[in-house]
Amino acid sequence: MSVARRPAKTGLVSARGNGKVILLGEHAVVHGVPALAAGLSLGASALARPAPAARLAVSPWGLEARPGDGSPLGAAFAALLEARGAAPERAQGAEQMVEAVVELPSEGGLGSSAALAVATLRALDRAEGIARDFEGSQAVALAWERVFHGEPSGIDTALALEGGLVRYRRALGEAPARRDALRAKALVLVVASSGERGETRRTVAHVAALRTREPDAFRASLRVFEDVVAEGERALVEGELEALGAALDRAQALLRGWGVSTPRLDRMCELSREAGALGAKLTGGGGGGCMIALAPDAPTRARVRAALAARGFSSFEATIGGSSSALEVR
Ligand code: PMV
Repeated sequence: MSVARRPAKTGLVSARGNGKVILLGEHAVVHGVPALAAGLSLGASALARPAPAARLAVSPWGLEARPGDGSPLGAAFAALLEARGAAPERAQGAEQMVEAVVELPSEGGLGSSAALAVATLRALDRAEGIARDFEGSQAVALAWERVFHGEPSGIDTALALEGGLVRYRRALGEAPARRDALRAKALVLVVASSGERGETRRTVAHVAALRTREPDAFRASLRVFEDVVAEGERALVEGELEALGAALDRAQALLRGWGVSTPRLDRMCELSREAGALGAKLTGGGGGGCMIALAPDAPTRARVRAALAARGFSSFEATIGGSSSALEVR
């Protein structure tokens, strides 16, 4: 972990954090199974400037918080400031006011909270002339995420920091977290919102309770999940879209079995498959939020989106993989 000095900049360029889409392995990743995810070009941006007291304003959510003001955002901001303060070379002195803009829905399963944490951290670091490496930034962003998510695997913050297309395995016991870049031909996903808010803290706690209640059955389902993610990764890397679609469907069945899907998300997955998608599943924390569908070509994607739109579900398209391994949204 390293923290270094660099020239301080205020008000010039906004700092950013990426949103993310989990292709396979959400929830299982909390329990040690690898997950496949890609950074979104949508995320959050933030600017910091000196102010008499630390403050964070978030639009378009219309939220404003001070550390320790009793609000969840104030608690997350306080945790982030405290974790930053632990860095030995932190500049002392003036407080900062951060103005952030989030481009993703909150509680949508697309990592809006991690994107906001990373944009806020980077804006503060930029204004104070601090350069923090990945591990240092991840540790600070995780302090924020723990307030919202309880026990985050770190996948959201890792993608918020670096984007790309990765296989991520969380730190467990002595083993450190691992993130491996994946190379895959570009493919386009349909990402659609259920319009329901998905509370990740609640669904993660629900899965943890399952683990306590039925440890043997849970361990067995984790092994199946691990196979599904491995098969999905093979299909992704080899460009076998039908096999990848089948892996998405299997993952959705497992997530439904764990009780983190909703009737609406299930229906959206069905609608997508009926319209020609090769596979579909919820993405992120579930209990609402978004789903993804994989369609083989542009006309099928258009049919999937039209079928979803006819039921009132808005969607966008996201490209993952390709030469840059970055993800763009149209
Ligand atoms: O709902 P999101 O975008 O925060 O995604 C959560 C992903 C989980 O695997 C459910 C939780 C985690 O920390 O990995």
